[in-house]
Amino acid sequence: MAKSKSESFLSKHQILERSPTLLLVASLLVVTVGGTVEIVPLFYLENTIEKVEGMRPYSPLELTGRDIYVREGCYVCHSQMVRPMRDEVERYGHYSLAAESMYDHPFQWGSKRTGPDLARVGGRYSDAWHVDHLSNPQSVVPESIMPKYAFLKETVIDGKYVTDLLATNRFVGVPYTDEMIEVARADFAVQADPEGDYDGLLERYPGAVVSNFDGQPQLTEMDALIAYLQMLGTLVDFSTFTPDASR
Ligand code: HEC
Repeated sequence: MAKSKSESFLSKHQILERSPTLLLVASLLVVTVGGTVEIVPLFYLENTIEKVEGMRPYSPLELTGRDIYVREGCYVCHSQMVRPMRDEVERYGHYSLAAESMYDHPFQWGSKRTGPDLARVGGRYSDAWHVDHLSNPQSVVPESIMPKYAFLKETVIDGKYVTDLLATNRFVGVPYTDEMIEVARADFAVQADPEGDYDGLLERYPGAVVSNFDGQPQLTEMDALIAYLQMLGTLVDFSTFTPDASR
C-alpha cells in the first residue's frame, strides 16, 4: 500500500525528532521567526501607551513623597495596579491604565499584596486619618500588621534637592518644562501651605491637593507622603473616560 501524504510527512519529522542537535537548531529557527514577527513591529510604533486626559507629571511635593514611599518599601506590601477583574474593580475602582503609571520611575505595579492595592487610595481618607494610620496603623485598624511610620512626622524637609529630582526625572523622559524645574522649590513648599499663593502650582499641576497634610507648621516627610497618597488614582476622570477602541 502506498504511503499517504501525511505519513511521509511524519516520517520526515522523525528525522528531526531523532537528532537532538537538528531539533534544537530547527526549534531556534522557529522561535526566531516567531519572535521577529511579534517584536519588530513594536519598534515602529511611536508609543504603546494610549494617552489619557488628566495625566500629568507629579508635583514636586508628590514626587518627593513618592521617593519616601519607595525608600520605606511600602511596595513590599502594597501594589498600585487594579487588575481588570470584577472583584478588583468592585473593591478598588476602575482598572488601572498604562498611562496612569507613565511617569513612574520606577513603576509600582507589584504582584503581591499584604495590604490593599493603593492605586486609587487618593481622596478615600482624610489627611488626618492618614497621619493617624501612618503614625500607628493599629490605632485605626486594630488588626493591622502594617509597621508604624511616626518618625516621618519628625523629619523636616526643605526641598533642597527637589530641583535636581525633577531634572533627573526629565532626563529619563518625564516632560517637566523649564518653568516647572525653575519654580520647583516654591511649588514644593506652597503645596503644604493652604494660606500661600498656590494658583501657579495648580496651573502647572491640575488637581494637586493643597493642604497642611500633617497639621504641623513645619514641612515634613509625612506631608510629602500624604500629598502623594492623596493624588493616587485621582488624575484621570473615569466618569468621562472611554477607552480608545480605534487602536
Ligand atoms: C508589612 C506590610 C506593610 C507595609 C510595609 C506597609 N503597609 Fe500599608 N497596609 C498594610 C496592611 C496589612 C493594611 C490593611 C490594614 C490597615 O489599614 O492598616 C495596610 C493599609 C494601608 C493603607 C490603607 C489602604 C486602604 O485602602 O484602606 C494605606 C494608605 C497604607 N497602608 C499605606 C502604606 C504606606 C504609605 C506604607 C509605607 C510607608 C505602607 N503602607 C507600608 C501593610 C503594610
